[in-house]
Amino acid sequence: MVEPILIGRAVVKRYGEVHALAGVDISIGAGEVLAIVGPSGSGKTTLLHVLAGILPADGGEVFLAGRPISGLGEAERSKLRRTEFGFVFQSGMLVAELTADENVALPMLLAGRAKGESMAAAGEWLAKLGLLGLSSRRPGELSGGQAQRVAIARALAHRPKVIFADEPTGALDTRTGQETVSALLEAASATGAAVVIVTHDPAIAARAHRVVEIRDGLIATGVPA
Ligand SMILES: Nc1ncnc2c1ncn2[C@@H]1O[C@H](COP(=O)(O)OP(=O)(O)OP(=O)(O)O)[C@@H](O)[C@H]1O
Ligand SMILES: [Mg+2]
Repeated sequence: MVEPILIGRAVVKRYGEVHALAGVDISIGAGEVLAIVGPSGSGKTTLLHVLAGILPADGGEVFLAGRPISGLGEAERSKLRRTEFGFVFQSGMLVAELTADENVALPMLLAGRAKGESMAAAGEWLAKLGLLGLSSRRPGELSGGQAQRVAIARALAHRPKVIFADEPTGALDTRTGQETVSALLEAASATGAAVVIVTHDPAIAARAHRVVEIRDGLIATGVPA
């Protein structure tokens, strides 16, 4: 068993009367690829958001590398998201006005790195993801799969410890989806980042080291991939 990088213990999240997470225990190993599956509305996105410090928990605790992070205020959680975590959403969420390399450089710039260094690193990441020559395109000038690879470069370029991906292939066809996941997993493996990936696609869940199923805000099973 590798050392856990991220642990959620008895995590509870409510939206008014809705108990979205009813006491979730989950552990993600350093460099591990964990798939989260489960029916619509079962709490997958909520779990991702609480683990990543996007939403505060209403109960329980989240630990990053042994350090409790669930009690932190918004400013500190925001800093953690910029430095320790990377995000890939269903459809890119790239900044439409920025070019591909500017999008990839953005998290590094927000983390305080120099512009020249950030743009150079962005170019290298785009090349690693097979997007050499597309650095000056804006998101509207890229295919869905290309845009997702830009999003992957952006999620990884600041070398986060954990990448959170919420249905990253949901807007892509099956083959492009598989290629996109390959690009994500290879890049994450090259940097040692753990990946927490929410997916409805069994073929994508099968690529994970471990699959966890959520039902009604609780972990249902831990099926080996
Ligand atoms: N902002 C919100 N306000 C109120 N209820 C919410 C909010 N966000 C989610 N919920 C509810 O919490 C529960 C869990 O939602 P969540 O988005 O985590 O599900 P999910 O498993 O990601 O679903 P999907 O597969 O459809 O994306 C659902 O009952 C949902 O309606
Ligand atoms: Mg969701």
